[in-house]
Amino acid sequence: MKNKKSGNSFTRRGVVLGGTAAIAGATSVFAQSKSVKAQEPISIAQNQSQSRNNILEGKVALVTGAARGIGRAIAVSLANAGADIAAVDILQDIQGHSVPMATTEDMTQTKQLVEQAGKRFLSLKADIRDLAALKNAVAQTNQQLGAIDILIANAGINSNVGFTTTDETAWKNHWDIVTDVNVIGTANTLRAVTPSMVERKTGNIVIVSSTFGRQGNGTNPAYVASKWSVIGLTKAAAIELSEFGITVNAIAPTAVRTGLGGSQTEQQRAESNEWLQANYHQLPVGLLEPEDIAGTVVFLASPAAKYITGTTIDIAAGANARYTA
Ligand SMILES: NC(=O)c1ccc[n+]([C@@H]2O[C@H](COP(=O)([O-])OP(=O)(O)OC[C@H]3O[C@@H](n4cnc5c(N)ncnc54)[C@H](O)[C@@H]3O)[C@@H](O)[C@H]2O)c1
Repeated sequence: MKNKKSGNSFTRRGVVLGGTAAIAGATSVFAQSKSVKAQEPISIAQNQSQSRNNILEGKVALVTGAARGIGRAIAVSLANAGADIAAVDILQDIQGHSVPMATTEDMTQTKQLVEQAGKRFLSLKADIRDLAALKNAVAQTNQQLGAIDILIANAGINSNVGFTTTDETAWKNHWDIVTDVNVIGTANTLRAVTPSMVERKTGNIVIVSSTFGRQGNGTNPAYVASKWSVIGLTKAAAIELSEFGITVNAIAPTAVRTGLGGSQTEQQRAESNEWLQANYHQLPVGLLEPEDIAGTVVFLASPAAKYITGTTIDIAAGANARYTA
């Protein structure tokens, strides 16, 4: 592995995507930097209330995977910008996938944070692999909050299963689960929500990809393929839905401290931080926090981005400077 200063051919073997589950109201951010002294922890709740505005007042947003992690941070930021939130999450573990999914307690914490922002909150238990369940979630949202203006297709899973590291049965099982959730589940989400947007000729959609949707990685080919795939899906949907005034964009975050990769020890997280900062990011930071991702989503959902569609925004602390045009 080469240091970022000495060359640009490296893999992200050192990075474990996700980390421990972050609880937005209770965690603190420690900016990591070699060149800057360790900073004081910043309360995320304080951060979010400081960034409160009404750019999305009166809007209804549906966010998948909203019970924890990046989805929760997005839901809370959209609420702080004025939107009511329909939060979709599976809220039970996925058979054959070793990483635990969010719980009803996680969802309750998201609810509390959204309600603290003064917005309405609807909790919807649905598996994005199940189109009928998603359609039902959309119907409930229409009934209880109103028509959906903003869709954030965020729910996704990852596990590190390589071409060479497993047997055929485990490989097939893993490939199917990751593809079903990340690709088919994301397409289902658009399928369920876009008809009413088309009818109303308005809507803003953001799909959550990854830096692994922009480059390769040696440990998780199914995840990499799925995250490239949703960027293709973003472009196809942007073209098809443009005539209805609907924007469709993607974001490609770098590694963020969430439950995506299962639990991590403090030492593993410290190693990820160190590796990211030394070898991957250009800005002086290690693992990002979920809240670091949410502001870009609010922007893409807002009138400030009304003529942006079919694009992907890298939120990668400058790692992207080495791999995207
Ligand atoms: N954490 C990272 O390092 C990172 C980096 C880039 C992109 N992402 C992407 O961000 C998105 C959010 O991940 P996260 O990091 O917050 O992880 P996370 O595991 O903390 O959150 C994912 C959420 O999605 C839910 N979910 C999973 N499968 C579902 C399904 N089939 N139906 C409904 N809900 C489902 C989970 O219960 C959980 O609440 C994912 O698409 C992920 O690929 C994460």
